[in-house]
Order: sequence, then C-alpha cells, then structure tokens
Amino acid sequence: MSEIMETLIRRGFLWQSFEIYGGMAGFIDYGPLGNGLRRRIEDLWREFFVVNERAVEIDTPTVCVEDIFIASGHATSFTDVAIECKKCGRVFRADHYIKEKLGIEADETIESVKEIVESFDLKCECGGEFDEPKPFNLMFETKIGPGKGKKGYLRPETAQGIFIAFKRLADYFRDRLPFGVAQIGRAYRNEISPRQGVIRLREFNQAELEFFVHPKEKTHPGFDTYANDRVRLVDKNGNEYDLTLKEAVEKGVIINQILAYFIGKTRRFLLKAGIDDARLRFRQHRDDERAHYASDCWDAEAFTSYGWIEVVGIADRGDYDLSSHSRFSGEDLSIFVPFSEPVKVRRKKIIPKMNKIGPAFRQKAKKVVEMLSSIEAKDADYVELDIDGEKVRVDREFFDIQEVEEEIHGEKVVPHVIEPSFGLDRITFAVLEHSFDKDIVDGEERRVLRLKRWVAPVQVAVLPLLSKGDFEAKAKEITVMLKAAGIFTEYDDSGSIGRRYRRFDEIGTPFCVTVDHQTFEDNTVTIRDRDTTRQIRIGLDELIPALKELLSTEKDISEFGVIFKE
Ligand code: GLY
Repeated sequence: MSEIMETLIRRGFLWQSFEIYGGMAGFIDYGPLGNGLRRRIEDLWREFFVVNERAVEIDTPTVCVEDIFIASGHATSFTDVAIECKKCGRVFRADHYIKEKLGIEADETIESVKEIVESFDLKCECGGEFDEPKPFNLMFETKIGPGKGKKGYLRPETAQGIFIAFKRLADYFRDRLPFGVAQIGRAYRNEISPRQGVIRLREFNQAELEFFVHPKEKTHPGFDTYANDRVRLVDKNGNEYDLTLKEAVEKGVIINQILAYFIGKTRRFLLKAGIDDARLRFRQHRDDERAHYASDCWDAEAFTSYGWIEVVGIADRGDYDLSSHSRFSGEDLSIFVPFSEPVKVRRKKIIPKMNKIGPAFRQKAKKVVEMLSSIEAKDADYVELDIDGEKVRVDREFFDIQEVEEEIHGEKVVPHVIEPSFGLDRITFAVLEHSFDKDIVDGEERRVLRLKRWVAPVQVAVLPLLSKGDFEAKAKEITVMLKAAGIFTEYDDSGSIGRRYRRFDEIGTPFCVTVDHQTFEDNTVTIRDRDTTRQIRIGLDELIPALKELLSTEKDISEFGVIFKE
C-alpha cells in the first residue's frame, strides 16, 4: 500500500466499504475527514458553477424509470466490452485488460477487441482462453414497486434528471437562453472489474452542469475572464499545445468559445480546490472514445499514482438529449427565441374551401380544415393528412394556395447543451495526492498535507499546551467560540504538543491555536502555520477575524502578528 493510502486510511479519510464482510471492489466509505474534504470541494464547486454562473441547482431521483434511458440511448449504448475466461469464469473490461497486459490502447469495439485477443493470443491471468467479447451494460437494473413492478435503473449520470425536467426549467428561466442547471449527487455504474481502488467506483459522486445555449451562439459572456489563462492541451490526434485559451480558440484547437470558457473555469476551480497546475492537462477525446451523446469532449486529467486520470469531462452534447426525449415523450422541448426585430417573409399558405370540405369529409371536416391551415403549402395536386392514425387524401379542389406576407417574431429552437461533468471522488483523491508532502522539521521527517485552507476538513485545532484543568478549560472555551463562528475546529489534549502539531499537519489542518502560560497573563494565544511551522501571538479578541481572513486567503500569518518562532 502506498504511503499516502496508508495515511488516508489510518487517519480517517477513506475506508474500504463493507470491510467486516470482506469488502467489495468499487465502493468506498468516506471517513470523517474524507467526507469533510469532499463536502468542502462540493461547496467550492457550487460557488463556481451555480452561484457565479447563470445557473440554478436542482435535485432529482437516483432511481429512474426505464423510459428515460431508452430515450437517452443508455439502455443500448452505455456499454463496455467484456471478456470472460472460459476456464475460471473471471470477467474483465477488455480495453483495460489489453492496456494492462499488452500496453495497447484498444478501440472500445467488439471487432477491435476480438482482433487483438486473437492476434496476440491474449489469455486470462489463469492461463485460460477468453470467450467471444460481449457488450456489458453498465447500468444497475432495479424494479420499482411490488409484483412485476416497473423496470428501473439507478441513474448512471445526474444529467438526465435535468433534461427530462427541461420544460419546467425553461419556464423558470422565462425561456431566455443561455442558462445552466446543476445537480450534485450520487450516480451508479456497474463497472466490470474495478481494479483501480478509489478511482473506479460503482457508486460515485458527480457534480454536473448542463448549460443550455442557442445552437448558433456557442459563446459565453464571461470568456474574457479566462481568455489569457495558459492551458496545457492535448488534441484528439495526440498533438500537445501550451496556449492561452484565446489562442486555442483562434487557432481552432478548441472549436468554440464556450468549450474554452468551461475549460478555463474548470481549471481555475481545480487549482482552487488544490490540484497542482503542473499535474493538470486537458485532453480531447479521440473519435472512437466519445460517449454516444457527445459531438466533442475535453477531459481535465490529473496526474496521480494511477497515471493520468479523467477528473472532469466537458462535452458538447448538442441537441442529442432534448431531441431524443422530445421524440420519445412526445413533448415539445424547444424554446421560442424572439428575434430582435420582426422579420417579414412571403410564404404560400393553404386556404381550405370550407363549403366543399364539409359535405365531402363530414365528421372529419373540422380536423381537415385545422390541419390544412397549419401545414406548409407545396405546389402539389393533393396533400395527405394523418388524422388519428388514418391517412386522408385531400385533393387540390378542396383548397387554394395564396402567397401571403407575414411577420415572423421569432423561431423555435432546440437548445444545445454544454456539459462540464465533475467526478468529485476522483477530484478529492487527486487533491489529496497533490497535497501530500514530506519535509524535515526539527531534524525529523514530517508528513504534511498541504490542503488549501478553505477545503481543509479541520481548519483549526485548539490545543492546551499542558494537560491541566485551566489550560484545558480555556482551550475548550475557545473551541466552542470558533465553532460558533463557523470555523471547522477540533480540540485535542492528548500527547505532547509536538506530537499533536504533527498529527494536525498530517491531516492538513492549516492552523493550530495554542493556549499557553501567557494566555492567562495577557489573554493571547499562539497561531501556528502548518506549512512553515512559524508562530505568532494574537489577542483573543482578534482571533476570529484573523482566522477567517487567513482561511479564505493565502495571506501569511506574519500579517497578523509578530513571528516569534520560526
Ligand atoms: N454526464 C456525463 C457523464 O456522466 O460522464
């Protein structure tokens, strides 16, 4: 086990789920510290992608009816290729097994896997032969209700809950594009053979933003904020670039401004969460790896002990989802977009001849008139109408065609969707790895988690210097005071002060506040900085504002008091 993993388990960040029953791959428990860290990252995400975006957040069920995924294509296309050993029965995800054993990037198709297995005579780890590769659907199936019930699935992405509520959401935004809808929550994928510990989970946490735009306006008014940010890019052909986002759009490396905007915003968010810029890149999906709904996709990838891992996918889903749900549900999921000026158009209009239609079509006459009036006129001898499933031919003698001039005030459009989709578990893990450090303090090696102050699960530790009643009572009083001020605070009186400092360094606590002898003389305490181990002394009445500022910025403690211990 790696040193960091050992620390994370021992200190209560992450644990194997169902441990006392032998565990199960693809599931993890967040211990108190891991849970705190992920929640803080979630809050930061919300600040970036909901509060500071034209967006709202909703919350929809994780158990979903089958219809959604028939329309979305997941029921048929959300598959990985699996290979099963004829001898031992183990099943592997083909592309991962091929990469691990042969170092080859296989296309995720049955044909490609079959060809590689045959030409390299690829065998199972037990020496057995593989059966024909087969698609394996990654959704967990369930049954809703008793008896035969209704087939359902656990959602494989939070996004679908947003698409199917689109009519209500468009109404909420008064049909004004662009707008974004976010959702944070659990999603489920029945991974074939998850062997990558915490990064390939069967139940995981997503934060997704579905940003709806006019199909012809793939821009974002906030682009300038990120235009000069320099980003490491790898395009779908493997070409590498180090460009500002403005240059990337101008050179066509990123196809439109809105994808570049979300790449920029995602990068700033990841850096603020604690991802190291030198271990971050954006890689465009190859044509053979894109999801069935995406026309383009850029992943944010972080370099970790598992190599480069996807932590965010930023996809252009076009109108794929809204059009499919519209087709399958029969609901109109378009938006009426008014023109800035009305446009005059000449068009041919059908004028039904009422006096002839009545006697000829009798009880169908009303519908014939309505439908004739609503369709586009063509110079044909007849039109064919579909009236309640019956084809009805209406000859030219029943209508006239007139050219008319009309004012058009707008058009119906099915919005396109740009989707930044974040894997919160992977981000949390990458942040932990990128924050993990070792240095020498007082001649001894120290493990220190250099978490950003605002995401640290324990932000301040309050420590009595001595285990004496009055020291402890004062430290407990300060703990209550800091907690009441909204600071994530822990009290600790066990062990020597040096050992306690090391304990809090190891879990990433940015500041320790210590009650010492002088506290009882002049009402001051010390603040120790995790990263430098330097200390200042500060009056108790200034403690809360100082800590609040320190925790929301990267200011040095020397701005709040005289360093008395280097
Ligand atoms: N919504 C994109 C994904 O789940 O990967």
